[in-house]
Amino acid sequence: MATEIEDEEVRVWDPLIRVFHWTLVAGFAVAYLSGDELDQLHVWAGYLITGLLVFRLIWGFVGSKHARFSDFLYSPRQVIGYTRSLFSGKPRRYLGHNPAGGVMVLLLLFSLSFTVGSGLVLDSGVGASSMAEIGQVMLPAKAWADDDDDEHEGGENEMLEEVHEFFANLTLLLVFLHIAGVVVSSRLHHENLVRAMVTGRKPRDPED
Ligand code: HEM
Ligand code: HEM
Repeated sequence: MATEIEDEEVRVWDPLIRVFHWTLVAGFAVAYLSGDELDQLHVWAGYLITGLLVFRLIWGFVGSKHARFSDFLYSPRQVIGYTRSLFSGKPRRYLGHNPAGGVMVLLLLFSLSFTVGSGLVLDSGVGASSMAEIGQVMLPAKAWADDDDDEHEGGENEMLEEVHEFFANLTLLLVFLHIAGVVVSSRLHHENLVRAMVTGRKPRDPED
């Protein structure tokens, strides 16, 4: 019986997606926890995540079936329909990301991109001068307020730091929702989605 069930499994997540995911989890933990230290570890973890995001973008177009964006881009109607079905009766099962999960994956990737994007500008030092100009155009009140600062340059960089910190924290919030979604989906569909992200396989027809 056990072997029969094993035969009934389907490959869903290719090895690169799985390595991408768990490296991202480790990289995000290191980047987030080392954020306050401004040391090399933080910047290297950030570069690692940047590389992972570039890979994921390419893989979203040329990767395996369920890795492609086209596999989990659903219309708002489908997303709402799926979310409703979670509350009423039996939600439809998807082998790849379900419509709500698909939205979460995209939000995570966007939020991570803004986090590393602002981090890279902050690290390059370009931020201090160009952000000052943007700050004066877009935030006259803040630029004026910063004039009172003893350390003018610090004030401008601070704005970029706040943007960076905001997206880092937004990503963390999304991660909590993402993990909650994984737990809820696993329960409703009687399958272990975390295991599937490790082995790459899902039961063809999970037992209800
Ligand atoms: C997902 C990836 C990243 C996360 C979660 C993250 C998170 C954080 C956090 C929480 C802080 C502390 C903010 C504060 O308390 O002021 C921070 C600061 C910083 N991060 Fe990142 N970061 C990421 C990527 C990057 C990248 C790619 C770079 C550049 C290569 C970078 C460069 C910096 C710099 C220069 C600071 C300023 C440190 C300071 O003066 O407070 N970060 N980051
Ligand atoms: C230990 C905590 C985590 C667990 C248990 C977990 C679990 C999972 C699972 C089971 C999936 C597949 C969902 C599905 O079947 O549709 C998934 C996908 C995903 N997770 Fe996580 N996750 C965790 C942390 C994170 C973190 C910290 C991030 C980002 C900072 C993240 C980003 C993603 C992304 C981007 C995907 C989509 C995978 C792809 O198609 O490339 N996860 N996660």
